[in-house]
Amino acid sequence: MAKTPQKLHIKTFGCQMNAYDSERMAEALAEHGYTPTDDPAEADLVILNTCHIREKAAEKVYSELGRVRALKRERNAHGLDTMIAVAGCVAQAEGQEMLERAGVVDLVVGPQSYHELPSLIGRVREGGERVVATDFPAEDKFLALPERPTRSQPSAFITVQEGCDKFCTFCVVPYTRGAEYSRPVAAIVAEAERLARGGAREITLLGQNVNAYRGEGPDGCDWSLAKLLKRLATIAEIERLRYTTSHPRDMDDELIALHGDEPKLMPYLHLPFQAGSDRILTAMNRKHTARDYAELVERIRTARPDIALSTDIIVGFPGETDADFEDTLALVRRVGFARAFSFKYSARPGTPAASLPHQVPERIARQRLHSLQSLLDEEAKAFDAATVGRKLKVLFERQGRKPGQIAGRSPYLQAVHGEGPKDLIGQIVDVDIVSAGPNSLTGVIKSGINP
Ligand code: 5AD
Ligand code: SF4
Repeated sequence: MAKTPQKLHIKTFGCQMNAYDSERMAEALAEHGYTPTDDPAEADLVILNTCHIREKAAEKVYSELGRVRALKRERNAHGLDTMIAVAGCVAQAEGQEMLERAGVVDLVVGPQSYHELPSLIGRVREGGERVVATDFPAEDKFLALPERPTRSQPSAFITVQEGCDKFCTFCVVPYTRGAEYSRPVAAIVAEAERLARGGAREITLLGQNVNAYRGEGPDGCDWSLAKLLKRLATIAEIERLRYTTSHPRDMDDELIALHGDEPKLMPYLHLPFQAGSDRILTAMNRKHTARDYAELVERIRTARPDIALSTDIIVGFPGETDADFEDTLALVRRVGFARAFSFKYSARPGTPAASLPHQVPERIARQRLHSLQSLLDEEAKAFDAATVGRKLKVLFERQGRKPGQIAGRSPYLQAVHGEGPKDLIGQIVDVDIVSAGPNSLTGVIKSGINP
């Protein structure tokens, strides 16, 4: 493919899975002579890795493409070529239409075709074609992608499951990422061991519906997420495990028990409930009630009393009344969240909810979002404040903004910073939490390096 060294700029939108995909794309292209750059103006190849989950996603991509077009012209004036690729869920959803609407785009590539990137780029470069690759190929893209590099971040991600069979009526994921697919255990273990050798101390398993994981085990049987986590916990260098995102329906007893039994499994769980009214939950096709959710949380807290819970909530789903919204606030109060992500409903083309009657006026949705967020902020502040005065183990991941500062995460996924030497990066260290700000905790690094 590329004969001379080439520069690659990837701009990532959306979720952690997109961030993981961007890393894997960069690794695949590194083998073909592409080195990453943060400056799109010096890039021979620009990839926009897009997200389609909410709000005029496609429009945002088209306006980003306007900026990229200006860069391409500028480079052209200096005799330089720029190839423009669009990846991710907008690419998957738009397909051929994207080539028609945006003349600047050379390549449209869906999430299931990333392993084909080098050859697709070759087709554009050598054949002068404009290419769309949005099929769901039968082959396993993870097998076809190169192995992970030999150096890794202290906290690394592995996609273990992709796609979703739940079909919540507001959501595009089942259409853009396809049906549920779980990677085999052996491939995940090999990737985790490689990341561990490269310096990773924490691994977060990613999946749109990660707790529905059912991958083929080395014994030929399908393994659950709990069983996979137990296996990964035997890797000595891996000291922390996390997983995200989970569906309440797939939180089985084995996984709940593991939160009490496996010290490497961190006391943090992202468990979206979306709405507190059973009527709305039914219209959303969530397959659980508000009470199911609250009872599930009680069982999880029985296994691991200090667990920090996080969630996703949508306000203004079609037909949501004031009383329905009050049910959402009530569930938030009943559970008490350490963190939460809340959104105004946005109609996604092609999803069943988009054609429901009684769409909620924007002004009301905005007000509801505002009052929900005040409550969630209060709860998050209370959670953080309760950790002030405690000694927490922090995995330091990077240098902080100020000189002499390092930054990392507590077991509860709180951002923590403190004064300390750079060589603590990659280590788990005892930290006295002395104050809580809006975005992070401040700590005094206690001990030296833990054994
Ligand atoms: N409108 C608003 N929020 C949405 N989400 C998914 N689809 C929509 C939509 N159409 C939210 C859900 C999901 C999170 C990733 O994004 O809360 O859990
Ligand atoms: Fe979308 Fe999550 Fe529902 Fe699947 S479970 S359809 S990914 S919101």
